[in-house]
Amino acid sequence: MSEPTNKNEEMINNFLRISDELNQLKDVDTILDRTLLEVRALVNADAGSIFLVEDGQLRFSYVHNDTLFAKDATNAAVYSSVTVPITEHSIVGYSALSGEMLVIDDAYNLSPDLPFKFNDSYDKTTGYRTTSILTIPLKIAQGKLVGVMQIINAKDSEGRSIPFDNQAKTYIPLFANNTAIAIERGILTRELILRMMKMAELRDPTETAAHVQRVGAYSAEIYHRYALNKGIPVKELKRTKDLLRLAAMLHDVGKVGISDAILKKPGKLTDDEFDIIKLHTVYGGRLFENSTSDLDAMCRDIALNHHERWTGGGYPGHMNDLFDGPPHIGTHSKSGEEIPLVARVCALADVYDALTSPRSYKEPFTEERTLEIINKDSGTHFDPEIVDAFLQIYDVILAIRAKYA
Ligand code: C2E
Ligand code: SIN
Ligand code: SIN
Ligand code: FE
Ligand code: FE
Repeated sequence: MSEPTNKNEEMINNFLRISDELNQLKDVDTILDRTLLEVRALVNADAGSIFLVEDGQLRFSYVHNDTLFAKDATNAAVYSSVTVPITEHSIVGYSALSGEMLVIDDAYNLSPDLPFKFNDSYDKTTGYRTTSILTIPLKIAQGKLVGVMQIINAKDSEGRSIPFDNQAKTYIPLFANNTAIAIERGILTRELILRMMKMAELRDPTETAAHVQRVGAYSAEIYHRYALNKGIPVKELKRTKDLLRLAAMLHDVGKVGISDAILKKPGKLTDDEFDIIKLHTVYGGRLFENSTSDLDAMCRDIALNHHERWTGGGYPGHMNDLFDGPPHIGTHSKSGEEIPLVARVCALADVYDALTSPRSYKEPFTEERTLEIINKDSGTHFDPEIVDAFLQIYDVILAIRAKYA
């Protein structure tokens, strides 16, 4: 009889630890990643995904699959843009509508009396074989539905797919509520940042949101590959990646201090106008100068340094005191590792996005021309090891572009 008690104690301790950790994470992707990692470990499951409610539909928002994807690698499938309507015809839709946990032993052997069918299109395109499925709605206290979590293919000790057992059915619901709260908070954080950027740019709001999300996601994934290349421990990698996605979204927040007449000028800027634009780095840095958190400190490093160049010649350069007098550009530019790593990463993400997007002053460049420029500027404008990481994950970069088009 002592076995279940120990198991219970272990579960409660696990539960407290995970709740605490989820509450420290800031970005919604990191929260989804951690949730799937912990829940899958708990029930020894091969795969899992989370759908989030967006515009009245369920958007496929995160995926893990130990059989299909290398552990800890960057993964383009995370940026899939599949959506499922909330109707009783699909498993996730039914679970969302009914608020019920669904436990399925064999996806290919569902009773024909059920209102929903298993959608085998994912298995068809990937060659994966889904067998057991546990689907649970993610709701916050007032009953608001945040999304649906799906855990796939519980495994026995030899790695064979088995049905989910009673322990899984008991413990997974305990995680669902806390997860929903953490996800809701992560979504609010991103929305707050998008609103700040709308104020800063007051351009086409949808284009601004997309641009900011792309630069955040490019930066996070380029850093991820770079960190694996450099042997940075996974724990530090995930912590930095979490903050970087949000901090990179704010790289141009200092443009709030630049007049529309200059920012939206249809043609080429004069030298004097460009000197004024350069100050957006200093305005941004000042905004985060009294940094009280790691996130603030990273926001400052990126806002201030994302236009420095690897071999020098960028701006704003060195400042003795960021607040000394009216906003101004510093003396000599920074170079090499003087430029914070996260700013070097964001510099490449920002230019890639600027080159491939239309601007008030230019048409988008073709993919080919964009890559030519980035390759030419590797080792001068850009840290060459960061360009290498970018080229290694080019499939992920394209998936991000497609998702935030
Ligand atoms: P942005 O449009 O987001 O561009 C960010 C960076 O992408 C630029 O930093 C530059 O390094 C790169 N970039 C953008 N367009 C091109 C291009 O056509 N060719 C190449 N090789 N690189 C490009 P930069 O130059 O420091 O500019 C910072 C910001 O200043 C730009 O942000 C934009 O808001 C403004 N800006 C720069 N040039 C012009 C211009 O000629 N007209 C107007 N209206 N704004 C400009
Ligand atoms: C991943 O391992 O692909 C995701 C890591 C993260 O989002 O923190
Ligand atoms: C740049 O280095 O980003 C500008 C010079 C160019 O490649 O046209
Ligand atoms: Fe900028
Ligand atoms: Fe930018």
